Amino acid sequence: MDLNLRGTCALITGAAGGIGQALARDFAREGVNLSLGYHSKPCSTLVAEIEQTGIRVMSHQLDVSQAESVESFVEAGHAEFGRIDILVNNAGIGFPGPTDEIDEQDWDHVLAVNLKSVFLMSKAVIKYMKQQNYGRIINIGSVVAKTSTNAQPWLDPHSSKKVGGGAYAASKAGVHALTKTMAKELVIHNITVNCVAPGPVRTNMVPSLPEPIKKQLPVGRIGLPEEVSAFVILLASPRAAFVTGEIIDVNGGLWMD
Ligand SMILES: NC(=O)c1ccc[n+]([C@@H]2O[C@H](COP(=O)([O-])OP(=O)(O)OC[C@H]3O[C@@H](n4cnc5c(N)ncnc54)[C@H](O)[C@@H]3O)[C@@H](O)[C@H]2O)c1
Repeated sequence: MDLNLRGTCALITGAAGGIGQALARDFAREGVNLSLGYHSKPCSTLVAEIEQTGIRVMSHQLDVSQAESVESFVEAGHAEFGRIDILVNNAGIGFPGPTDEIDEQDWDHVLAVNLKSVFLMSKAVIKYMKQQNYGRIINIGSVVAKTSTNAQPWLDPHSSKKVGGGAYAASKAGVHALTKTMAKELVIHNITVNCVAPGPVRTNMVPSLPEPIKKQLPVGRIGLPEEVSAFVILLASPRAAFVTGEIIDVNGGLWMD
């Protein structure tokens, strides 16, 4: 199936990470020009690899929690391509620990990187998407936004591995809620807003799962970044025009709505 993405352009945040790199490669394969945001480690090898395929690609340092940084990333992308068809809000950080042990600064940081970022990035691109009367925004949520730690039966309140991760779960629940709100706001501008909510995926965030835990996942294994990006690509396509405000679960059966 031709997804009709060739010649469009996308901004991807957190592009040097596990899911970010899969997104960049898959979009490039579909002929999408790319502006990649990296935080600490530049993604020059990835850029060089994609450039060889004839795709227009550039990368910029980006802190998604800072309005100024977001503004210059979006302006650079628009200056290069003259439009912004697709935004993928992918950057994120995990944070463990029970609520009464989280510092206020850590709480604010997790919420800023995972949730405020979606507000800042989306606000900056929406003005261009409205002018174009076209856009696709895809946010990366999480299964824990729906279930909190109930989706992680291996976290046992009675063992030394404490239940926690409230800041992360709350930030991702906010992403899911913002997805639905923006979807309704923007539908009259021909802009769709959707969210892909992964379960455990093998990246730096979740390098591996111990065997007994894998067995608790219905598919019996950790997910792959490409298994997340496949759904993002589909939602980014003009063919997905009838889908908006959806939270798409990609979690190996860990949680079924
Ligand atoms: N891996 C999983 O199991 C899993 C599960 C559910 C959701 N997710 C979500 O998927 C997304 C991608 O994560 P990943 O698994 O590829 O992890 P990752 O750690 O490999 O990638 C995350 C990327 O975000 C970047 N980042 C961190 N802080 C940033 C900031 N302030 N500004 C800009 N970029 C910043 C990091 O540099 C990194 O490249 C995240 O939103 C994460 O919450 C991951």
